[in-house]
Amino acid sequence: MTGSAATQSAPGRGSPVGEVTGSAATRAAAAGGFPSVRPRRLRTTPALRRLVAETRIHPADLVLPVFVREGITEPAPVPSMPGVVQHSRDSLRRAVAEAAGLGLGGVMLFAVPEVRDAVGSAATAPDGALAVALRDVVAEVGDGLVVMADLCLDEFTDHGHCGVLAGDGTVDNDATLLRYADMAVALAEAGAHVVGTSGMMDGQVGAVRAALDGAGRQGVAVLAYAAKYASAFYGPFRDAVESCLVGDRRSYQQDPANGREALREVALDVAEGADLVMVKPAMAYLDVVARVRDAVDVPVAAYQVSGEYAMVEAAAARGWIDRERAIEESMLAIRRAGADVVLSYWAAELARRAG
Ligand code: PBG
Repeated sequence: MTGSAATQSAPGRGSPVGEVTGSAATRAAAAGGFPSVRPRRLRTTPALRRLVAETRIHPADLVLPVFVREGITEPAPVPSMPGVVQHSRDSLRRAVAEAAGLGLGGVMLFAVPEVRDAVGSAATAPDGALAVALRDVVAEVGDGLVVMADLCLDEFTDHGHCGVLAGDGTVDNDATLLRYADMAVALAEAGAHVVGTSGMMDGQVGAVRAALDGAGRQGVAVLAYAAKYASAFYGPFRDAVESCLVGDRRSYQQDPANGREALREVALDVAEGADLVMVKPAMAYLDVVARVRDAVDVPVAAYQVSGEYAMVEAAAARGWIDRERAIEESMLAIRRAGADVVLSYWAAELARRAG
């Protein structure tokens, strides 16, 4: 949104008209005959650029991830995510009311429980931190906002893994599916409109769909974290949920080296009944977003994760990057790559700017 193009220099465009001595093409250019195709014309004014923009940021496409921590009465800042807090029950209600007022598409809830154990008991307890938060949020916003809940055990286990462990310490896929099935029903009963299966267990979408249907919750949708990579960009999130994880998740989350494999994961999730599929993280995986968008006909979401947020905030705090522009550009890139829905910690801010 700087001044008009005419006042900007144009490197590589040759010398001013008076000094033209070169080829026929250059002389023709000076006479106005070449180039006849001039894409710059559509970039001349802010109004023209706005008119021809292929991609827009609209609040309805954005989902705000929110953290609620059991047992606190005031919101607690997350040090590695400046501007993001762990909510108390009260501040969560205020945040989701604001999100609804801004016209956001939805919220995604994560809970930090007071007590953790090996199987993540609090994840399925009717009075667990996430269930309580869901009831509060639904009471606050009703159907005015799509209320999503993370369906994973990692916040609730004392070892920090996304599932239950086998005797040898590995994550037991099929035993975990039983926990996910129970968790899906608990979240649906607490009022979730959408459950986000983020654990990367094989068969999780099918197990969750069957459990929901079996409980008479056919209307609850599944957002499958279909292509979720084992990423260093989740670092600040693990602060936000005070993760107990030691080690990594490479035995269940995808290898960053693989793109084709994402299509296989996505196809399986769609076949198992996923209503939406997600790619995560977003910015380092825009090729995957684009390929997935081409491959399926369900809505595609992308998650602009904690590390993507923290990098921009940290660089901006040092004056090394233009914060507002970097945020907008990163969101446009994710949308341009093909994401229909974007989860972003900047969702409310972007909605405020759009409004
Ligand atoms: C797992 C989960 C994670 C994130 C969302 N859901 C972390 C992980 O897989 O370790 C990361 C989100 C972010 O980094 O913003 N329940």
